[in-house]
Amino acid sequence: MKVSIIGGGGLVGSCAGFALQCGGVVREIALLDLNQEVAAGQALDLLHGGPSTADQIISSGSYEHIPDSDVICITAGLRRKPDESRLDLINRNVELFLGILDQIKAVGMKKDAICFVVSNPVDILTYLAAKKLELPASKVIGLGTQLDTIRFRSLIAQELKLPPTQVKGMILGEHGDSMLPVWSAASVNGLPLDKFPGWTHNMANELFKRTKGSGAEVIKGKGGAGFAVGIAIRDVIESIALNSQQVLPVSSIQNGCYDIRDVSISVPTVIGRCGVMGQLEIDLWPKEVQQLRQSAQVLRGTLKTVLDRVG
Ligand code: 2OP
Repeated sequence: MKVSIIGGGGLVGSCAGFALQCGGVVREIALLDLNQEVAAGQALDLLHGGPSTADQIISSGSYEHIPDSDVICITAGLRRKPDESRLDLINRNVELFLGILDQIKAVGMKKDAICFVVSNPVDILTYLAAKKLELPASKVIGLGTQLDTIRFRSLIAQELKLPPTQVKGMILGEHGDSMLPVWSAASVNGLPLDKFPGWTHNMANELFKRTKGSGAEVIKGKGGAGFAVGIAIRDVIESIALNSQQVLPVSSIQNGCYDIRDVSISVPTVIGRCGVMGQLEIDLWPKEVQQLRQSAQVLRGTLKTVLDRVG
């Protein structure tokens, strides 16, 4: 499977390329960037690691890679400032993103190719990608809250000194300020988290608060996220490549799940080779459902202002 990463010269795109190389699952990784010299440098750096990772084709360039790509991963975009919300990025990134979509449309995509959106505000841009590329909703996925979910799990594990791979939990909703923790599904190797020695309501609130602020915390520390977002991107792309149909909290256009429609938002989603294979309305606490619908409301409001402007 060939993956083209638009914005592959940048921090997020190059970390995604590195994560996919280390995963060894996809066959070809193409790094596309406006700055082709940087993309070529990133690709060369990846290529050098090939003999010790996997037998893959590593390439770079521009939109000539799009027509034979199976997954088109869009990471390009301006990064927000620490005190800026992802939705604040709207005006600056929407124009840039629409230009990318126009170029994809101009060169054409494979019939069953999947568009995977990472650029922020990811939920808004995922919706725009489906509409502007005239793709079925199942063929457009946004990274959504998969990154927030692995951050959430990592912080719980660190706090309780547990193996992070055994800590299960999920963040749903907007990849942004209205995201919500699904405590009803939080566990450690199948054992309910809220029964764990030392677990308190205050600890739960603090861990979610830090999760929600993790993007800004990383931006403050190093200018922007790279490693974890690359891993989150790999999680989704490998579920596509292997058709493993993992249930992932990623963003896609809703058509009634939790009674949410006409907005792209993260719910538990089955991801396979043909993209979104299902959106699962798993039983949540009433408060969680209410927060999820509230998050959809926030996104719909923003989406309306964007659609009024760009049509
Ligand atoms: C983050 O939360 C890039 O939105 C991404 O770091």
